[in-house]
Amino acid sequence: MTPREQEIQRRTELSTTRVAKAVFPPTTNHHNTLFGGTALAWMDEVSFIAATRFCRLPLVTVSSDRIDFKHAIAAGSILELVGRVIHVGNTSLKVEVEVFVESMSCDSRERAIHGVFSFVAIDDEKTPIPVLPDFPAS
Ligand SMILES: CC(C)(COP(=O)(O)OP(=O)(O)OC[C@H]1O[C@@H](n2cnc3c(N)ncnc32)[C@H](O)[C@@H]1OP(=O)(O)O)[C@@H](O)C(=O)NCCC(=O)NCCS
Repeated sequence: MTPREQEIQRRTELSTTRVAKAVFPPTTNHHNTLFGGTALAWMDEVSFIAATRFCRLPLVTVSSDRIDFKHAIAAGSILELVGRVIHVGNTSLKVEVEVFVESMSCDSRERAIHGVFSFVAIDDEKTPIPVLPDFPAS
């Protein structure tokens, strides 16, 4: 493993981000399930935090890949969002977000949503800069 790969592994572990949410009425739709736009906003935020913890640089979201909504999330559920860096480029990072749904009344847990968000590190002029300046990509 190269020093850059070791640093990526170390920072990936340090930056993995978990956030728990309760699905209460202000976040639900007319089906009494979690509103998709709210889920996307939470996923963008968790992925942003993981990416920021990874590089501690100013970041902007540059794209999101396909988002799969596999299961509806009923009002009264508990969610856990897990954001983890899965790819490190020169100036960009990709963060996978998994959203797990739990019942409030039993120990069940299943993955309901999955998506990948990409971020670019920028300087004061909004120009892309390396995410790991001390370990340049070859
Ligand atoms: C992010 C931004 C600075 C990138 O500028 P750019 O001229 O496209 O930069 P480059 O072509 O040099 O690409 C920079 C990196 O971004 C990556 N990138 C560019 N477009 C991408 C896309 N659509 N999806 C994923 N990665 C992308 C490139 O692959 C490159 O990665 P690398 O350095 O790790 O190889 C510019 O697109 C921008 O300002 N976008 C608006 C961001 C924004 O306002 N977001 C919403 C609010 S946070």
